[in-house]
Amino acid sequence: MNSEDFDMIQSGIIYFDNGATTLKPRVLGEAISDYYNHYSSNAHRGDYEISIKASSEYENTRDIVAELINSKSSKQISFTSGTTDSINKIVFGFFRHYLKKGDEVLLTKSEHASNVLPWFELADEIGIKVKYIELDSNHKVTMENVKKAITANTKVISLAHVSNVVGDVRPIKEITEYAHSKGILVLCDGAQSVPHMKIDVQDLGVDFLTFSAHKMCGPTGVGVIYVKEDHLDNIKPIIFGGGMNAEFDNTGTRIYKSMPDLLEAGTPNIAGVIGFGYVIKYLNKIGLDKIHNHELDLREYLISKLKENPNIEIYNENSESGIVTINYKDIFPQDLSIYLDKHHICTRAGSHCAKILKDELKIKNTCRISLYFYNTKEEIDKLVDALNNPNIKMEII
Ligand code: ALA
Repeated sequence: MNSEDFDMIQSGIIYFDNGATTLKPRVLGEAISDYYNHYSSNAHRGDYEISIKASSEYENTRDIVAELINSKSSKQISFTSGTTDSINKIVFGFFRHYLKKGDEVLLTKSEHASNVLPWFELADEIGIKVKYIELDSNHKVTMENVKKAITANTKVISLAHVSNVVGDVRPIKEITEYAHSKGILVLCDGAQSVPHMKIDVQDLGVDFLTFSAHKMCGPTGVGVIYVKEDHLDNIKPIIFGGGMNAEFDNTGTRIYKSMPDLLEAGTPNIAGVIGFGYVIKYLNKIGLDKIHNHELDLREYLISKLKENPNIEIYNENSESGIVTINYKDIFPQDLSIYLDKHHICTRAGSHCAKILKDELKIKNTCRISLYFYNTKEEIDKLVDALNNPNIKMEII
């Protein structure tokens, strides 16, 4: 769908690395260059027409994001530089003060580095314990295993909505309901879900949601923190400077602004945030339900084709997202990715930043094919043809 909106697809690239970042539709470049060429100025700081326009376009994106995820208000949305930045700001701006020594945080064994390392750091700093929810035989998170992992000391569950390696969709609403009944908060990393399906934060009930613009046709360097209303007054900044303070004097007295400005010290990525707003409008026009269904349809087609090749091992046949992770017998995944690149097919090989998962999969590296709405069955046929090439090993050597 809509592949005509992407110059890179028109140039002949088959792009299956959408879990890492997506391609950008022309509308993004147009919105960004419009800002730089016609009203480039700082936001929230100028009393002249172009700065007022920059501020209003920037704030308009905040409203668009709030509507996208059904946040009660825009003040619950702060812009960051990406999901990693968002999670760090929640861990060190909220949980550093909320948790105490001996409290436990539950992660899953398939979390991305950005949802593991900040917790390790906080554990070293204040003595919390990091524990894991076991995965089932399909590498999925089940309610049964969530309940098993919870102890009287569990205070937070921090997990991705969709894992970036095995693509399983976690039962976030059920997890949150259960967690809240035990007084446990939930941080949900939506980096791999918000771009691909309709998300309703009020329905999910999560305390915090994070995601990145660049994984949903937007610019790099823009991310989002959603904070549930109850926590708005308890999150503290970890970056201090202009834009987030209301007043300060030479004695050290200072008054900080409230959310969302509180977490946006310094000049933000104005062009990127504005561009992100235009991209969300573009995605809304296509329809997130349509995007989701198209990806599931492509996934089913891809899996059925891959299964015809006995040399291919699929690690997540039963997941429900556009992420398919494979290995080819006796071919190192990086070599496979390089081979596919010769056919103009982009995939990602490696551990995909989820380094704890390798022990679960009992394999260090995999090759990941991650789909988005602009991918087609014809592109999948080309991938499958390349994988079915009887001379594949010769061509790799
Ligand atoms: N988190 C990105 C990925 O999964 C970079 O590839």
